[in-house]
Amino acid sequence: MKFIQIKRYGNSDVVEVNDTVSVPAVSTGKILVNVKASGVNPADWKIREGYFQQMAPLQFPSTLGSDFSGIVKQIGEDDDMSSDFKQGDEVYGQASVLSGGSGAFAELALANKDSIAHKPKTLNHLEAAALPLVGVCAWQALVENIGLSKDQKILVHGGAGGIGSIAIQLAKHLGAHIATTVSTNDKQFVQQLGADQIIDYKKENFEDGIHDYDAVLDTVGGETYKRSFKVLKKGSGIIISMLEQPNAELMSQYGIKAIFLFSQVNRQRLTKLTQWLDQNNIKVNIDKTFPLDEAGKALDYQKDLHPRGKIVLTV
Ligand SMILES: NC(=O)c1ccc[n+]([C@@H]2O[C@H](COP(=O)([O-])OP(=O)(O)OC[C@H]3O[C@@H](n4cnc5c(N)ncnc54)[C@H](OP(=O)(O)O)[C@@H]3O)[C@@H](O)[C@H]2O)c1
Repeated sequence: MKFIQIKRYGNSDVVEVNDTVSVPAVSTGKILVNVKASGVNPADWKIREGYFQQMAPLQFPSTLGSDFSGIVKQIGEDDDMSSDFKQGDEVYGQASVLSGGSGAFAELALANKDSIAHKPKTLNHLEAAALPLVGVCAWQALVENIGLSKDQKILVHGGAGGIGSIAIQLAKHLGAHIATTVSTNDKQFVQQLGADQIIDYKKENFEDGIHDYDAVLDTVGGETYKRSFKVLKKGSGIIISMLEQPNAELMSQYGIKAIFLFSQVNRQRLTKLTQWLDQNNIKVNIDKTFPLDEAGKALDYQKDLHPRGKIVLTV
């Protein structure tokens, strides 16, 4: 069985294929999955490089990866002996070592039962593996935090990225008017996803053409985050950032509510995501796939080239 591991923090040179790891033991509350595909997120190269080592240090050797789609191989005994899953079920979710899993960049992954759900039937394993983190982020931001409703206006930054490409489709489903920032090459892509107003962030200042918006979803941070306060409705506007802690000065200057969203993928949210995906024919754009053995290259591609939609490892 192959596992993609690191023995120290670093760039792609530290990423190794290890086929001598023993199969993780399946205890109460855990499920062992035959992984069919693993989704790649910016967090994966950030973890590899040690960005989170103060907050959540890795125990080496450590298997990389979080998002996956696969087939249940073995189920840990439950306290109440009841389970929503059985051997052979198709499931998707997370198996990060930072949340009690064994790592998703592997042929076999141990996951918490609360971190998985039944795979959407309308998606194949590659598409489903791309979704747990970005789908839940979009759901938490638009549905749970903003409560986005019909005819409201939202600006989605980074609309061609993992979170942005799902957020645009979710905002469309909720009946909102959507503006989005992308680079020139991605304009047609986000138009097909349902964006109403498309701003090429390398050529235009988004705040010049957008005013009195109800909400901003920021997947970029930095100056983009700060400038976004200008486009929101004073008194009722809300900005959700995936990267920035709330800026108290800008909040009070513009009369805006600001939230840093910390994503939490759990069974309840994944199940809602599954229902929405299956009922609405949602598109998942796989920009590129890499074989599991080339996980290091996939992480570099995610970091340096910013996929249109997602990249996925085939297992
Ligand atoms: N807080 C949390 O819990 C949480 C959870 C998930 C993700 N995140 C973070 O959220 C961020 C986005 O995640 P993701 O998966 O969507 O990443 P992604 O797939 O890399 O998407 C980011 C997108 O932003 C675009 N972009 C870059 N600079 C921009 C700018 N100035 N204006 C507009 N768009 C710009 C990129 O495209 P081009 O550069 O090609 O234009 C890319 O399409 C990452 O930093 C990730 O680590 C946080």
